[in-house]
Amino acid sequence: MFEVSLRNNKVFKCDSESTILSAAKKAGLVLEHSCLSARCRSCIVKVIKGDVENIQEELVLSKEERNTGYVLSCNAKPLSNIKLDIEDLGDIVLTEPSVFPSKIDTIEKVKEDIIKLVLRFPPTCNFKFIAGQYVNIIKDNIKRSYSIANNPKGDNKLEFYIKKYNNGVMSDYFFSKAKENDLLRIEGPLGTFFYRNDITIKNIIFLATGTGIAPVKALLEQFNQQPEIYKEKKIWLFFGVRYKEDIFFNPKYDLINFTFIPVLSRKNVNWQGENGYIQNVLLKQKIDLSNAQVYACGSNDMILSAKKVLIENNLKEHNFYSDAFVSSN
Ligand SMILES: Cc1cc2nc3c(=O)[nH]c(=O)nc-3n(C[C@H](O)[C@H](O)[C@H](O)COP(=O)(O)OP(=O)(O)OC[C@H]3O[C@@H](n4cnc5c(N)ncnc54)[C@H](O)[C@@H]3O)c2cc1C
Ligand code: FES
Repeated sequence: MFEVSLRNNKVFKCDSESTILSAAKKAGLVLEHSCLSARCRSCIVKVIKGDVENIQEELVLSKEERNTGYVLSCNAKPLSNIKLDIEDLGDIVLTEPSVFPSKIDTIEKVKEDIIKLVLRFPPTCNFKFIAGQYVNIIKDNIKRSYSIANNPKGDNKLEFYIKKYNNGVMSDYFFSKAKENDLLRIEGPLGTFFYRNDITIKNIIFLATGTGIAPVKALLEQFNQQPEIYKEKKIWLFFGVRYKEDIFFNPKYDLINFTFIPVLSRKNVNWQGENGYIQNVLLKQKIDLSNAQVYACGSNDMILSAKKVLIENNLKEHNFYSDAFVSSN
């Protein structure tokens, strides 16, 4: 049994067969995570002292990250007592994930390649989640992750935005077979892509590409429902899509101090707005990143380059949170 200590001096035990993440959970501590399978990088952490070993071959960290002591806590086990440069998520209590039955309430195309799906639980079901979390949707023996696109409303329904992937197994089901009242199972809630309350933060910045808007929408609904909590904060959303016809989400949150900046990655005729990478458009706004939190969701490429460039521009590393929509395969 080894001791794992965190930056905030919390200590827990981990045996040589368990991952750091699972041992933390067993000890009642929540560390940042999402996919739990060494794909999304959400659980990246720097080992400051001691030795660790990967359980499975690790393919997502760069050579430089590995050489400077970074590991994925969902895939690393200790070989000695270790110290990590990370804090747990404090008082947040996560609901233990379970599997629930659900039915398709509505399904509609919002664009040729994006579906809005609403699932409903049976009336006796009490599915609890925090805005920003995701679930696994299970159809027969296929399981894929999807972010919940609404703040809990107490109506036993969950909303999703689902993109069509070429030759995708679940895409094939949702875009050509799914119909109202189909039975699907839901495993969740999962992930830690939720809001962290910090009174020193002045700017809350969301970066979303494509259907990465889903958990961001849930968080914005949360903010707009309790605006008094966020009245000292300026809230920004940079939404990246290819063409202006792809802007399928037009937010209207008038109770919070909110700025929406859609960004197109391709040249579009008759477009007066922003073009390029969303992180570069964010830098153009000259926001003081030293007192900002950034929540980035969508493509892994965007998340990787945004994190790098924003940290170079004064964002504190621990104030960058992300949920990468990585492939399940
Ligand atoms: C935490 C999390 C949350 C997610 N939330 C959403 C969401 O809200 N909306 C949404 O549309 N998707 C989301 N995804 C992605 C989703 O889980 C599936 O990967 C996606 O729907 C494709 O599934 P499929 O069965 O259609 O394709 P598959 O049969 O799994 O794959 C078909 C082909 O597409 C490629 N591919 C599959 N998924 C991706 C991907 N994400 N990026 C790049 N290439 C891919 C595969 O490599 C393969 O070549 C999320 C993923 C994660 C990990
Ligand atoms: S939770 Fe560890 S890489 Fe996704």
